[in-house]
Amino acid sequence: MDVTLQEKQVRRAYALFSPVYDLLFDKIFYPGRVEAIKHLGIQRNDRILEVGIGTGLNLALYPRDCHLTGIDLSVEMLRKAQEKVVEYVMGNVLLKVMDASAMTFADDEFDRVLATYVISAVPDPVGVLREMKRVCRPGGTIVILNHFKSANTVVRAMEDALAPLCTRLGWKTNLALEPLLRAADLTPEVTARVNLLNGWRLVKCGNRK
Ligand SMILES: C[S@@+](CC[C@H](N)C(=O)[O-])C[C@H]1O[C@@H](n2cnc3c(N)ncnc32)[C@H](O)[C@@H]1O
Repeated sequence: MDVTLQEKQVRRAYALFSPVYDLLFDKIFYPGRVEAIKHLGIQRNDRILEVGIGTGLNLALYPRDCHLTGIDLSVEMLRKAQEKVVEYVMGNVLLKVMDASAMTFADDEFDRVLATYVISAVPDPVGVLREMKRVCRPGGTIVILNHFKSANTVVRAMEDALAPLCTRLGWKTNLALEPLLRAADLTPEVTARVNLLNGWRLVKCGNRK
């Protein structure tokens, strides 16, 4: 079953989630975060974009000698991220409210672009991936970490059954990876399974333009 996620659902869901998001999603998603940042391969002075940065649970994992920009649709989630920026004394971080499917950045503005647990939480996943590709320089790195539709028929049936409820909560359970990458013209260089029961996928793409 395909269930469409609307922008107003996303805004409402993450406004509600923001006070408890870290409590619910910090520990279980942590192993994938570490792998995602490692796969970005950050070099000194790199310009990094984190799309849908949310409450900033990845912030502590970045080296201090990069220039990090984080964007999110949700003001409430970004407010939590800003608290962490202050707490960790990170002068290298800029946070902006922005729709990732219509970014205001120039082409090729970043060396590396990351989206963790975001692609199934956006109304227009293909639009977001295309934008990530556009703002990443040729030869740059794009890393996506997410749960995608399973190849296992039993798991897939569960994902489809949960889809209407989870969409109301702010994310899709049954987004298929391969058609998405094809539509965004992204070719994976590395894919890995991470987190509990290997249920999430890490995809690293070199940006060819
Ligand atoms: C499940 S949270 C993930 C947050 C964070 N990346 C993490 O790893 O914990 C999804 C985030 O994507 C944001 N989001 C959804 N649609 C968006 C869009 N079109 N543009 C920017 N951010 C968006 C939500 O507001 C939310 O903060």
